[in-house]
Amino acid sequence: MENVYKINKVSKIYDNFSGKTIALNKINLEIKDGEIVVILGPSGSGKSTMLNILSGIDNPSSGEVYFYDKRIDNFNDNELTNYRKDNLGFIFQSYNIISNLTVSENIELGLNLSTNPLDIDEVINTVELTEHKDKYPYQLSGGQMQRVSIARALVKNPKVLFCDEPTGALDENTGKKVLKSLQEINKKYKTTMIIVTHNPSISEMANTVIKMNSGKIVEIIKNKKTISAEELRWA
Ligand SMILES: Nc1ncnc2c1ncn2[C@@H]1O[C@H](COP(=O)(O)OP(=O)(O)O)[C@@H](O)[C@H]1O
Ligand SMILES: [Mg+2]
Repeated sequence: MENVYKINKVSKIYDNFSGKTIALNKINLEIKDGEIVVILGPSGSGKSTMLNILSGIDNPSSGEVYFYDKRIDNFNDNELTNYRKDNLGFIFQSYNIISNLTVSENIELGLNLSTNPLDIDEVINTVELTEHKDKYPYQLSGGQMQRVSIARALVKNPKVLFCDEPTGALDENTGKKVLKSLQEINKKYKTTMIIVTHNPSISEMANTVIKMNSGKIVEIIKNKKTISAEELRWA
């Protein structure tokens, strides 16, 4: 399998009034195309920094970052914007959906300037929102709102979906439904999923689990078998 990302000796050092923080410490990593990857670690271990560097939101202090065969850590702002627009989707713990737009209208926002969009009704169906597509956000549960934000990130057909604590605000049942949508999307569209979480239960649905602590990767686990989101044992 081809690498979607390869990073060599990547460090990120924050230097400000409160002193120096080594958020990432000489990290090497390969991420395979089409995998579900879970990045696991306690608060402050460098998960969000890793995600920001892979997604071109932040630059490493040193080291190299490759997206397929393109080196992206020395891209200028314009190149980074295009890289994100053409290739990446984002899902956060907070749903960031617009309250005076319907479910469909919120999802259509994701089509913005996309060159290779998916069929919007098919995407709405994949995240199981067809019967809710004309509702407004106040009429939805937290899990449904998160699935709106997933669909909005997905319609432009990104190569990679970055999910930072996607179930952080959800209870077990709604969290599992959200993860099931991510799993369906991975299967159907071969979208690479990079999921950052501190919930170890989610690891069992990942092809690769990357455990971080204090800015280092402490373990990489390759799961031979993955289980469906409904079967996860929630911690
Ligand atoms: N903008 C910043 N300025 C200074 N320190 C930061 C900044 N962002 C993150 N850090 C520090 O870098 C370390 C890793 O943070 P982060 O990547 O957010 O961890 P995680 O997502 O695993 O909780 C932490 O010690 C954090 O305080
Ligand atoms: Mg974080």
